[in-house]
Amino acid sequence: MRYWLVVPAAGSGQSYGGDQPKQYAQLAGRTVLEWALAPFAADSRCVGRVLVTAPGDERWRALPGCAGGAILNVPGGIERVHSVCNALRAVAGCAGPQEWVLVHDAARPCLLRADLDRLLAAGAAHPVGALLAVALSDTLKRAGEGAEVDATVARGGLWRALTPQMFRLGMLTTALDAALAAGRVPTDESQALEWQGLRPLLVPGSAANLKITGAADLALAEAYLTRCDALP
Ligand code: CTP
Ligand code: MG
Repeated sequence: MRYWLVVPAAGSGQSYGGDQPKQYAQLAGRTVLEWALAPFAADSRCVGRVLVTAPGDERWRALPGCAGGAILNVPGGIERVHSVCNALRAVAGCAGPQEWVLVHDAARPCLLRADLDRLLAAGAAHPVGALLAVALSDTLKRAGEGAEVDATVARGGLWRALTPQMFRLGMLTTALDAALAAGRVPTDESQALEWQGLRPLLVPGSAANLKITGAADLALAEAYLTRCDALP
């Protein structure tokens, strides 16, 4: 099994704030981006890495965690989906349509190696592909006016979608292109395939694989990274 890695890191981190985008925030001795790349640097199944950064952003080049093995760099687009599409065009210059692509957010620094292994094993055996996800455990409320509860939503069958998400290059490119051509903006790769009538596989992953959104998430990620042996 071999795969290409696509890491979208071209966001500006509006909800995070701060003086630089969250992928460059310091976390346990390195940047969030370096932690996000770490599990793949040690994985011989990963045959190429494409990093998507904002046009003109050269900060990643100076990071030790971005050295050691070539990284293809492409400019990002307006939304995450545009950034991923730019990366897929670069991958298509080196890989055939049947090859696997893993898309992993630069803002997720705590991917467990065991989760990556489980995703790859399950995804490679599935006709469509797969994504890491966490089944919901809290009781869900739908808010009405003034944040008062309108209703409790049944949580059976509901999952939170994480990354990596793994799909074949050809199928994923076709799905994303079709979505954009129809004027629809998917918020993850799976959604574009779902719009094609396909059914990606949900692979249970650890909730440690959080996406840095606000400053509190950095503290939580730091706790995971310094206390969990299974992390890179
Ligand atoms: N991303 C990207 N290109 C964009 C938007 C987002 O490559 N045009 C990347 C981000 O850098 C991040 C991942 O997609 O690694 C997930 O996006 P998100 O968490 O929404 O990050 P931001 O878009 O940077 O944050 P915000 O939405 O708060 O501005
Ligand atoms: Mg965003």
